[in-house]
Amino acid sequence: MPQQGFHSMLPVPTHDEAARENYSVTFRNMVMNAIPDGERLVYERRAVPVFEKEHGRRPRTRQEARKLMERDPYGQMSSALRRLSQEVLWDTVSDSIERDLPELVARARKTRSGKTRGSLELTPGTEIPRYVGAVDIHAMPGNYDEERTADDVFAGALYDRGVFLRYGGARGPYNERVGTQIADWIRANYPGLKPRRILEMGCAVGGTAVGLAAAMPEAEVYAIELGAPMLRYAHARAESIGTPVHFAQRNAEHTGWADGYFDVICSFALMHETSTSACQNILKESHRLLAPGGLMLHLDIPAWKHLDPLDAARIDWDTHYNAEPFIGKLGDLDTDAVMLKAGFRPDQFIEVRLPGARHPSSRFAARK
Ligand SMILES: C[S@@+](CC[C@H](N)C(=O)[O-])C[C@H]1O[C@@H](n2cnc3c(N)ncnc32)[C@H](O)[C@@H]1O
Repeated sequence: MPQQGFHSMLPVPTHDEAARENYSVTFRNMVMNAIPDGERLVYERRAVPVFEKEHGRRPRTRQEARKLMERDPYGQMSSALRRLSQEVLWDTVSDSIERDLPELVARARKTRSGKTRGSLELTPGTEIPRYVGAVDIHAMPGNYDEERTADDVFAGALYDRGVFLRYGGARGPYNERVGTQIADWIRANYPGLKPRRILEMGCAVGGTAVGLAAAMPEAEVYAIELGAPMLRYAHARAESIGTPVHFAQRNAEHTGWADGYFDVICSFALMHETSTSACQNILKESHRLLAPGGLMLHLDIPAWKHLDPLDAARIDWDTHYNAEPFIGKLGDLDTDAVMLKAGFRPDQFIEVRLPGARHPSSRFAARK
């Protein structure tokens, strides 16, 4: 298991807490890597033949594959363990954060009151739209916006450590890898584009934003997010890492910046947490904010039509069992229609494929 990159906002687990974290990572790896192989075998050899007998054909959609596996004992076990591993992960990570919380809050306050290279703009009273606020997204206790204490940073700490462990460090020591990959991709594909200002929408604790700021130090990196506890944490974390990012509590649907203010606008794993109408609004806002010649890359899940029904059902599992209500809808969305409605022309659409991606990395990508 790779070590998470050090910064001053990480809580320090005790020996027993670290042992439980190791257990939850091992459990999670088994659930996410070993069990799906078995699930594929069971699907092909046991479940599909049952379906074929009933319907005279193989399952065609993710819904058919899901319903089929919900009837199978292996599918039931896989689903139950997957949900359990998610709960165990958050629960385990919470222990050390709860203990260290007063100290973490104090460190973030100290960062804000000192001289910083980036900045933090909070807007008390920011409305949390229902598509984010109605449930604890991906079963994360308290969601992105819960304020447990004055100047809270709990949600940020939980997300930072939880995501690092959830992906076994695969997103980089600072969960920064996607930001680095976006910067590399821009340099390789648009060497003439020298962005002055980059905006990341839905930045969470700034993993991708920090990657962008480190890889493109000549650009000013802005990152927006709805949850204040996420942003206080993100700002202190980025300052401790030494990468200047300008964080702001703004809704990606209506950011308030002037037309054409950014040369690059990107997001990673934002769109699947928004409703269909919010996704449309975010694309329209991106079109408005992009300078001529600018690039937009919103990275998220592929369209269902490109996936085999069982693979699609495995991603769509989160819609039904992991409080990610909009994943299903995003995969169904007519990409061309929403891009055109947002103001982009077909000749502005581009294909983005980051290293290792089996499908195009962004369904919503364009050069203005
Ligand atoms: C899965 S996280 C994104 C991860 C992040 N991009 C990274 O690189 O680690 C999605 C984030 O988008 C935020 N979000 C959702 N809707 C938003 C909106 N309309 N405006 C700004 N942020 C939003 C959520 O609060 C959440 O923190």
